[in-house]
Amino acid sequence: MSSELLIRPLHIDDLAAAEKLSSDSFLELDRRTFQRGWPEPSVRGPARVRDWIRRSTHLIEGDAGGCWAAEIEGAMVGFATSFRRDLTWFLATYAVRPESQGVGIGKPLLEAALTHSHGCLRGMLSGSADPKAVRRYRQAGFTAHPQMFMRGTIDRDVLPIVEHVRDGTAGDFDLMNSIDRRVRDAAHGRDHELLSSMHRLIVLDQNSGSGYAYVTPSGEPALLAATNRRTATRLLWEALAASEPDVEVTIPHLTPANEWALDVGFAARLSVYTNGYLALRGMKPPTPYIHSGALL
Ligand SMILES: CC(C)(COP(=O)(O)OP(=O)(O)OC[C@H]1O[C@@H](n2cnc3c(N)ncnc32)[C@H](O)[C@@H]1OP(=O)(O)O)[C@@H](O)C(=O)NCCC(=O)NCCS
Repeated sequence: MSSELLIRPLHIDDLAAAEKLSSDSFLELDRRTFQRGWPEPSVRGPARVRDWIRRSTHLIEGDAGGCWAAEIEGAMVGFATSFRRDLTWFLATYAVRPESQGVGIGKPLLEAALTHSHGCLRGMLSGSADPKAVRRYRQAGFTAHPQMFMRGTIDRDVLPIVEHVRDGTAGDFDLMNSIDRRVRDAAHGRDHELLSSMHRLIVLDQNSGSGYAYVTPSGEPALLAATNRRTATRLLWEALAASEPDVEVTIPHLTPANEWALDVGFAARLSVYTNGYLALRGMKPPTPYIHSGALL
């Protein structure tokens, strides 16, 4: 790559430009990789832009050492945001603008983000289907586990009655962090504050098992963790019940280790597809677990 490439810390006042770059880069990727029959890729709406900026601000505020920009002649051409929770390093997002990809900008950018993983025993990221990304992650020692997702309209006749699920509060964060540590070896910590301000939080806490899920207004589980499959299954049904009748719902980010979730999706008559990878270093695919795309 030419000598004018500068890799420097990403700042909060870079985020409007970074969001635009990320939106352009992922739209181009979606257009390049989406399958016939899937909805046509579309530009991020204002609500998603707002959430993106909030999440990235949260990451820079807590993990400035994990957030980097690539710049050529004063213009941002790429960026990466990453963070550490307990002894695990997580990559939240990573993009190079479409016209500059494949010429060696992403490599030093990822290396800069990985300096933030110093002392971590594990690494985790939800990667795209871009072959260039998978190549970068493998070269950084990650194992790529193919991800599935399920989509369709819920057959409401099969929705079970789920008892004992309640709305969660900040008073549940200690329990949730314990579940996180059991399932993925690292608590979400301060991410729970952000996630609970963005999504509905549901909790199931009984002698037979504990778990929680963040649920979007359309009934999509944005993140789900539990101490056993039975509890996870009940939480997923509760999330799906929030979907609108006759409106498509998605269960994202499913690895083969989470067949309990596939079984729920199939029972609800959703269809299954593959997209991207859960890339892991020093750990196995968490289960029972549905990870969040950026906060993992
Ligand atoms: C993933 C991404 C950030 C990498 O940045 P980049 O600047 O393209 O990366 P680099 O050029 O440093 O590295 C790409 C690697 O893929 C190789 N490559 C280039 N074109 C390729 C292709 N069509 N297929 C497979 N490999 C390819 C390059 O040779 C290079 O490997 P090498 O360094 O071992 O030679 C960038 O491509 C991107 O933004 N993609 C779209 C968004 C995305 O998928 N982000 C990751 C989300 S998890």
